[in-house]
Amino acid sequence: MSQTLDVRDAAPRPVQERLFTGIQPSGASHLGNYLGAQVNYVALQDRYESIYGIVDYHALTTVHDAATLRTLTHEMVLDMLAVGLDPARCAIVRQSDLPEHAELCWIFDTVVPVSWLQRNPTYKASLAEGKENSAGLLNYPVLQAADIVIYKASVVPVGKDQDAHLELSREIVRAFNRRYGEIFPEPRAVYTDAPIVLGIDGARKMGKSAGNTIPIFAEPDEIRRLVMSMVTDPLRIKRTDPGRPEVCNVCQLHRYVGGDYLQIQDGERTARTGCVETKELLAERIIEFFAPMRAERARLAADPAVVEDTLAAGAGKVRPILAATVAEVHDAVGIGPRRER
Ligand code: AMP
Ligand code: TRP
Repeated sequence: MSQTLDVRDAAPRPVQERLFTGIQPSGASHLGNYLGAQVNYVALQDRYESIYGIVDYHALTTVHDAATLRTLTHEMVLDMLAVGLDPARCAIVRQSDLPEHAELCWIFDTVVPVSWLQRNPTYKASLAEGKENSAGLLNYPVLQAADIVIYKASVVPVGKDQDAHLELSREIVRAFNRRYGEIFPEPRAVYTDAPIVLGIDGARKMGKSAGNTIPIFAEPDEIRRLVMSMVTDPLRIKRTDPGRPEVCNVCQLHRYVGGDYLQIQDGERTARTGCVETKELLAERIIEFFAPMRAERARLAADPAVVEDTLAAGAGKVRPILAATVAEVHDAVGIGPRRER
C-alpha cells in the first residue's frame, strides 16, 4: 500500500505551551497536595511541556535543619514519581540545582514594590502562624514568580490556596514587562475540582507546617489513627443527631477517594450512620486509593540511584531553556557582557 501524506501533518502546529509548578520539600505529600494539585500534575504532563520543581529554596523559609531538608527533598522526588509523573515525559527538577531561579528573583526584587509583598495574604497568615519574619518569607512570592516565568511557562497547576500568589506573579510580570519590554507571558493557575482541603482539625487548610495533615504514603495504621482523630460536624454531638455532610470534612473527603458520596451524605443527614463508621470507611478508602502508588513508591525507593538520576535528567532538559531566558534578561536589563545580536 502506498504511503499517503496526511494533510494534518503538514499543517503548522501551535507552539506547545509550557507548564511549571513547584512543591516544597517541607513535609510528606498529603491529601491536600494530592487532591488540590498533584492529581493535575499527572493529568497534564502530556498536554504541555511540563516541568515540576521541588522548591528547596522556598522550603528554607521553614525548614532549618540541613539533614532534614535533604531527606525531605529526596522523599518528595519519590512522591512525585509514585503519584505518576514519568521523567521520560516531563522534567522533575530540584530548584537549588538551578540557581538561575534565584538570580531572576533578585532582578524581579528590583522591580517589585515592597508594599505588594507586605499585603500578600499568605505572608500575613504565615506571620500569624508564628513563622519567622525573614526577608525570604516576604520575598517568597517573588521567587515563585521567577520559578514559573524563567521557563516562560503559562500553565501552573496548583491548589486554590495559591490564587493570591499567582495573581502576584502576574503583577510582577506586568511590572517587569512595562519596564523592560514584553519578555514574559502572564501565567495562569489550573485548578482541580477539589476545594482547599481542610486539615484533621477541620478548621485550617491542611498544610505541612500546620501539623494537621494526612500523609498519603503514611503506614495504613497511621492513616487510620489520623482519620479517626478528624474533627467532624461540631453540631453533631450525639450519635442520633442528624449531621450536616456539607460542613463535615470527613464526609467531604469521601467525594474524592472513590466513595459513594451520595449514600454517605444521606446516612449522615438521617443519622443512619455515625461519625465513627464514616471515619473508619474513609480511612479504608484512602488506604485503598493510594495502595498502588504506595507499592510503586516502595519499588522505586529500593533503587538508591533513582532520585539523583531523575533530578540529573530533569536539570539536563531545562538548562538550555534557562540559559536562553537568562541571556535575554541580561540583555534587556543591561547586565553581563554585551552580546552581538
Ligand atoms: P505545598 O505543600 O505548600 O508546597 O503545596 C504544593 C501544592 O499543593 C500547591 O499547588 C498547593 O496549592 C497545593 N496544596 C497544598 N495544601 C493544599 C490544601 N490544603 N488544599 C488544596 N491544595 C493544597
Ligand atoms: N508556593 C507554592 C506552595 O506552597 C510552591 C511553589 C513555589 C510554586 N514555586 C512555585 C507553585 C511555582 C507553583 C509555581 O504551594
